Amino acid sequence: MLDRLLLFGATGDLARRYLFPSLIHLWRDRLLPPGFQLVAAGRQGFDSDEAFRNWLQERLGREASGNAAAFAELMARTRYVAVDLQDEAGIADALAPFAHAPAVSYLSTPPDLFAPAARGLARAGLLDAPSRLVLEKPIGHDLGSARAINAVLRRALDETRVFRIDHYLGKAPVQNLMALRLGNTLLEAVWHRRWIESVDIVVAETAGVDGREGYYANYGALRDMVQNHVLQLLALIAMEPPAQLDADAIRDEKRKVLRALRPLQAADVGRYTVRGRYGDGVVAGRAVPGFRHHAPVETFVAVEAFIDNWRWSGVPFRLVTGKRLAERATEVLVCFRPVSHWLFERPDAARAAPNRMRIRLQPEEHIELGLMGSLSAPEWAALELQPMALDLQMPSPQRRIAYERLLVDALKGNQTLFVRDDEVEAAWSWIDSISSAWAAAATPVLPYPAGSWGPPEAQRFLPASIVDEIGGGD
Ligand code: BG6
Repeated sequence: MLDRLLLFGATGDLARRYLFPSLIHLWRDRLLPPGFQLVAAGRQGFDSDEAFRNWLQERLGREASGNAAAFAELMARTRYVAVDLQDEAGIADALAPFAHAPAVSYLSTPPDLFAPAARGLARAGLLDAPSRLVLEKPIGHDLGSARAINAVLRRALDETRVFRIDHYLGKAPVQNLMALRLGNTLLEAVWHRRWIESVDIVVAETAGVDGREGYYANYGALRDMVQNHVLQLLALIAMEPPAQLDADAIRDEKRKVLRALRPLQAADVGRYTVRGRYGDGVVAGRAVPGFRHHAPVETFVAVEAFIDNWRWSGVPFRLVTGKRLAERATEVLVCFRPVSHWLFERPDAARAAPNRMRIRLQPEEHIELGLMGSLSAPEWAALELQPMALDLQMPSPQRRIAYERLLVDALKGNQTLFVRDDEVEAAWSWIDSISSAWAAAATPVLPYPAGSWGPPEAQRFLPASIVDEIGGGD
């Protein structure tokens, strides 16, 4: 386990919200190496390390005061360095004092800084083996820019030392998706087009764009959420079982799925996608303003995707994500095919509810299996079936920030929960097919009120559980 972390973007929003809180928790729980040292780097200048600590303490608020001892101990191991990541020579000079021992450098910065920063770090000797580099998402803006970043990285260090973050992979319920699939004969046996009719993946947020307008206007929901988090969920659900659980075995399988996604054609966008953008509305009882920006960017996207391979041929994967929706919920709904021969009088076959498995990942972890059963006693002439739900409330051990696990894995050098270069490129390649199809077809961005489930035109993409909730079912 390496024991030095260089955190770039230390004065940024992600560092405040997740990275420092994660480090404080890890230190408190003794999950960092005893000799741990942190170099916090940002553009802002501070007169001294102490000035940075005071500033950070105030910014972290309760995260720091609630864990006062851990915060103080962590800060005693922290140095602050001001760097401009555009300036390769400047990076090398500023970091030379830290280049004597291997380290993990973490770029929590916009992607246009990845290439100059990697060159500067390489020049300082901070990417020499066994040092590692962690990069926050997004890796570029499209396939071309992702390839350019990956090419610079390849020149600076080899892929076995590059750790691309998708924080969804650090979430325990997401890891549990793999465990469920691969640890249960019951599921393994039916995980196939022969038995599965459709799969829904919903990542619904109540939060808005809130303060990230500049970034978001350039990305939109497709690039901000589908390219990474939603496609990673899809890949874990749809991949072939890897032969081992090592990083490359899993990533090989995920990449194959991503490469089998059918590219979207301009002629099909109306049928297979909907884009939306929230206007004024009410979320959790609070009036919120709409997202107003001159860039015609979406805050909601629904896509029906197809994986053209033997296992999934013809099975629709409906992907829906949006901001300022009615509820915060990340869930996967697997709908099985109807029974092949219906024996029962009541309900008639057309009204029978096929089995379904609903895996809720956020905000709480919960698995529900929809089955059919009979509530009537055998003496009744007709056997009447009713939907029944088998409910598995997952035990929730201490909840951790996804980044806690990822930081520890990066220090340990375990790449399993990080995204490989070819996966990122395969995901962009499919996403680019959608953005180009939208551009060619001049796909409109449809309005929806904040606090709803997206534009009414997207209702056909929503899973039955949500449609029932909004009263759209028949
Ligand atoms: C980030 C996106 O990667 O994930 C944000 O940039 C989004 O727009 C966030 O809000 C969602 O993550 P979580 O963990 O809150 O579901």
